[in-house]
Amino acid sequence: MRADEVKDASLAGKEVAVRGWVHRLRRQKENAFVLVRDDRGAVIQCVLPADKIAGLTIESSVEVTGTVSQDPRAPEGGFEIKGKEIKIYNVALEYPIGEYQSDELLLDKRHLALRTRKMIAIAKIRASVLNLGRRWFVENGWMEVTAPTIVKGAVEGGSTLFKLRYFDQDAYLSQSAQLYLEAMIFSLGPVWSLTPSFRAEKSRTVRHLAEFSHLEAEAPWVSLEDILKTEEQLVSYVIQNTIKERAEELAFLKRDISDLKKVVPPFERLPYEKAIDILRERGFQATEDDGSKRAIRFGDDLSIDSERELTKDADRPMFVVGYPIAVKPFYVKEDPQRSGVGLTADMLAPRGFGEITSGGQREDSIDSITGRMKKENLKPEDYEWYLDLRRYGSVPHGGFGLGIERLVRWITNADDIKDTILFPRTMSRVEP
Ligand code: 4AD
Ligand code: MG
Repeated sequence: MRADEVKDASLAGKEVAVRGWVHRLRRQKENAFVLVRDDRGAVIQCVLPADKIAGLTIESSVEVTGTVSQDPRAPEGGFEIKGKEIKIYNVALEYPIGEYQSDELLLDKRHLALRTRKMIAIAKIRASVLNLGRRWFVENGWMEVTAPTIVKGAVEGGSTLFKLRYFDQDAYLSQSAQLYLEAMIFSLGPVWSLTPSFRAEKSRTVRHLAEFSHLEAEAPWVSLEDILKTEEQLVSYVIQNTIKERAEELAFLKRDISDLKKVVPPFERLPYEKAIDILRERGFQATEDDGSKRAIRFGDDLSIDSERELTKDADRPMFVVGYPIAVKPFYVKEDPQRSGVGLTADMLAPRGFGEITSGGQREDSIDSITGRMKKENLKPEDYEWYLDLRRYGSVPHGGFGLGIERLVRWITNADDIKDTILFPRTMSRVEP
């Protein structure tokens, strides 16, 4: 039986057997108090005669047999087991993770740290986010597809590519499924995928991973505004249902969810040039000469500090719309009415959590695409199949990509994105 199943008044006085791991252990003269954690993370106190647990250690695997007793003084929900027998499956070595540990040790021992209640809570919230994201797409008529993760070309610029030897040629780990999703919309309509994306991010930040879970979508016959509506509905649905499903875990993490409750469409659409005006009013300089972080030039991509400034008082995410195409990849469509402006938007999470999605309409003109590829030092020859999509019945289309870990970081209020994924990959970490 699991620990949570025992917490049932109708079982009081009955005999049960609970399997799990020793979460905490307190020995007294005659009795010992063993907190057993089951395989779903629920814990129950078992009281056993002290002589039955000689040699028992934290994280040993056990099965305790005894009678259920309802006792308001018992921790973890007012139930405990008066244990008669304990079967020990494995006596654990001295457990390296105690109550106070450095973040580095917890990362080195992540395969064991997964058993901490913080990691269990985050893993459950993450599972809800993934499941709800899927459900939203399925319920709204989008078809799930899978794109390859070994590819020939960059999507998001050449500087963050992981190169690998693929038999007798060079290939890369995919940065985004987007180009493949663009190929699929002609026969499959609106499509979505959840695949790992890889970025050789050479900076250490609290919001970049080298491998992340990428939820991406693409649809034919859509405008930028259609894409933004899709994004705000998806994100609102995921958040409203996650805070219902995972109220207990969010409370354990001490996440005050009053702001998350307000995440409903529509999200503000802030034009890029207005964002720059706001930053200027708040003292962001036009040059970076003084090394200040509070600087932004018109035409630059938004820095982490400028995103934080724009969203510091917000409860809901906002879209920054119409970035200069010069700072965006080759596939971004130029606004036919405004030269140099992209039909593109990033969704910024509130209070400095920063960008969680990028999306927009895709460029139709082959000349514009290949010209911009060359500016990015990419070879159009590597993208012949992609250019074919513009040669054979191209239609207005668009889509977006959402970083699951970025979204989970905001929902859980995690300091570092490494806390939102069980086995993080960063510049300095490929183990465990
Ligand atoms: O903004 P990005 O680079 O956009 C794309 O890849 C598009 N091709 C997506 C598309 O339109 N199909 O990445 C999309 C999102 C970002 O907004 C961010 O949430 C996340 O992916 N992301 C990362 N998350 C963690 N670590 C990284 N290094 C990330 N890079 C991007
Ligand atoms: Mg982006």
